[in-house]
Amino acid sequence: MTDAPVVDELTPPVRTLMGPGPSDVHPRVLRAMGTPLVGHLDPAFLDVMNEVQELLRYVFRTDNQWTLPISGTGSAAMETAFANLVEPGDTVLVPSNGYFGHRMASMAERAGGAVVSVDAPWGEPLDPADVRDAFETHQPEVFGFVHAETSTGVRQPAVSELTAIAHAHDAFVIADTVTSLGGVELRVDAWDIDIAYSAAQKCLSCPPGASPITLSDRAMDRILTRETPVRSWYLDLSLLEGYWGTERSYHHTAPITNVYALREALRLVAEEGIERRWERHREVARTLVSGLADLGLDRYAAEEYWLPSLNTVRVPDDVDESVLIDHLLSEYGIEIAAGLGDLAGEVFRIGCMGRSARLANVQYLLTALEESLEQRRS
Ligand SMILES: Cc1ncc(COP(=O)(O)O)c(C=O)c1O
Repeated sequence: MTDAPVVDELTPPVRTLMGPGPSDVHPRVLRAMGTPLVGHLDPAFLDVMNEVQELLRYVFRTDNQWTLPISGTGSAAMETAFANLVEPGDTVLVPSNGYFGHRMASMAERAGGAVVSVDAPWGEPLDPADVRDAFETHQPEVFGFVHAETSTGVRQPAVSELTAIAHAHDAFVIADTVTSLGGVELRVDAWDIDIAYSAAQKCLSCPPGASPITLSDRAMDRILTRETPVRSWYLDLSLLEGYWGTERSYHHTAPITNVYALREALRLVAEEGIERRWERHREVARTLVSGLADLGLDRYAAEEYWLPSLNTVRVPDDVDESVLIDHLLSEYGIEIAAGLGDLAGEVFRIGCMGRSARLANVQYLLTALEESLEQRRS
């Protein structure tokens, strides 16, 4: 037996988080996490749950009754969507133009779905004409798309067109809104999305751990009348309904502190106003992009589908991307990220999300980048 390890008190470095998430967290959210724990069935916590659900409806722009946080990170909310909606044998259409479309494919397959894809090059959104063709060819029951692709910095425009195509074929639409919720225009009801899921640590600027999801009655009806049980017990919405629906009966112990944090983060969104918040993300990211261009760093995604919350810029030929990223972190405490998947080595990924979408952050990053690039090149 070894002796009890001696571990120092936790003193993490203070960072400026300008990567693909997590983003900087508001002190009010951190304070909420330090408030006393209550039980997950305490009447006081039941009130908190109601408030979180109400705030989530506001942020998703929906009246969906089935709006709740899933315990776990964004991938748990994502898996909840696919595991519940997809029945074995269903055909599931997913995009191939980014890293998270591929994750959708893995999850749909594990749920027993037969996966087919609609293609677009990495760095471009889906073309509605291609989606229509894919529907004619494959007649899928479920269609997933990524509203804000974090690997490419591309925003999927024309969402209503995509959902109209799917609904004309009686299919259900799952939208990944992990990098758009609370930062980029998203209207679940107006755009007729059946299921949208997200994460806490991006534009909501909340620590990861409780991840939003919203489902239309139509989607929930399909889930509640499935022929086979959902393969995951933990993420089975027909069981979670007992806790997050009207009954409020035990299913699993909610991550209380994460729910407190989410409540405070959502309160901050409501205080700012969702549309004003979308506008702030656009304005601040616009300053970022033009400052990057002045430094010779060109945006990767075209203007029409630029994603303000996640900016991809091409790595210049004379720059070693990993050296620059390490330098920003060690010398300035700034986090940005490298490219992912097909874009590894091709782009930097610079987040402009939630509390990190501030001019002070952007100016600091641009100054640090200017100095770092000069040093690399001299
Ligand atoms: C678009 C998208 N979907 C899903 C996820 C998965 O979320 P998480 O890493 O919180 O599990 C991410 C994470 O970055 C993402 O960017």
